[in-house]
Amino acid sequence: MKPSLIIAIDGPSGAGKGTLARALAARLDYRHVDTGAMYRAVAWRALQGGLSLDDDAAVRRLAEVAHLFVEGGRVTIDGHDVTSAIRTPEIDRAAAAVARLGGVREVLVGRQRRLGAAGGVVMEGRDIGTVVFPDADLKIYLDAQPHERARRRADDPAHTGGRIGLAGVQSDLEARDQTDATRVVGPLAVAPDAAYIDTTGLSVEATVDWVMQLVEQKIKEAV
Ligand code: DC
Repeated sequence: MKPSLIIAIDGPSGAGKGTLARALAARLDYRHVDTGAMYRAVAWRALQGGLSLDDDAAVRRLAEVAHLFVEGGRVTIDGHDVTSAIRTPEIDRAAAAVARLGGVREVLVGRQRRLGAAGGVVMEGRDIGTVVFPDADLKIYLDAQPHERARRRADDPAHTGGRIGLAGVQSDLEARDQTDATRVVGPLAVAPDAAYIDTTGLSVEATVDWVMQLVEQKIKEAV
């Protein structure tokens, strides 16, 4: 039997975390948890409920009581299937805003720890290897040049409302990177023990093969 590792994948938007995490989870028969979708779903629900996106106490409460599911490629919150509704420029901005709130992060980090505690999980986000699972078995920090990340995001059919052109996508991404990297709680950062991979010009297959070699190494060490 394969050991149930915790694999943490962090990095900025458009670096290819989702594609890599899904491929690894499929190959290893692990669960894939997209933590960005959790921030997005909470932001969607907050907007729907007319909450102010800087009201930490109110949004935290919402995150605490919500029935939130992000596994298997579908995202639901309180019975609403928001799988595609959370992939819009409006929710890009709203999710970055709620991700700055310390109380909201505390609640979602707790949920993420419970989801991954048993292992056998590939979890992607911004603070998985630094805050959520600092003792993860394998940490990957995935990066790519800004123009490449913007091109991937603009080509992503899951992302709707893409009428702002490549330059617009790139400036939105850079603004969001800035917000993610400079927030006080759980900022985007490279864990000292993470494998740093720049995927600019690297195919999906090559990236997955590279990381699978690291996984196989960890599996050998664990048995
Ligand atoms: O990965 P994504 O673009 O779907 O993430 C949505 C937002 O949530 C983005 O602004 C980064 C933030 N986020 C975070 O702060 N911590 C995480 N673990 C995951 C996402």
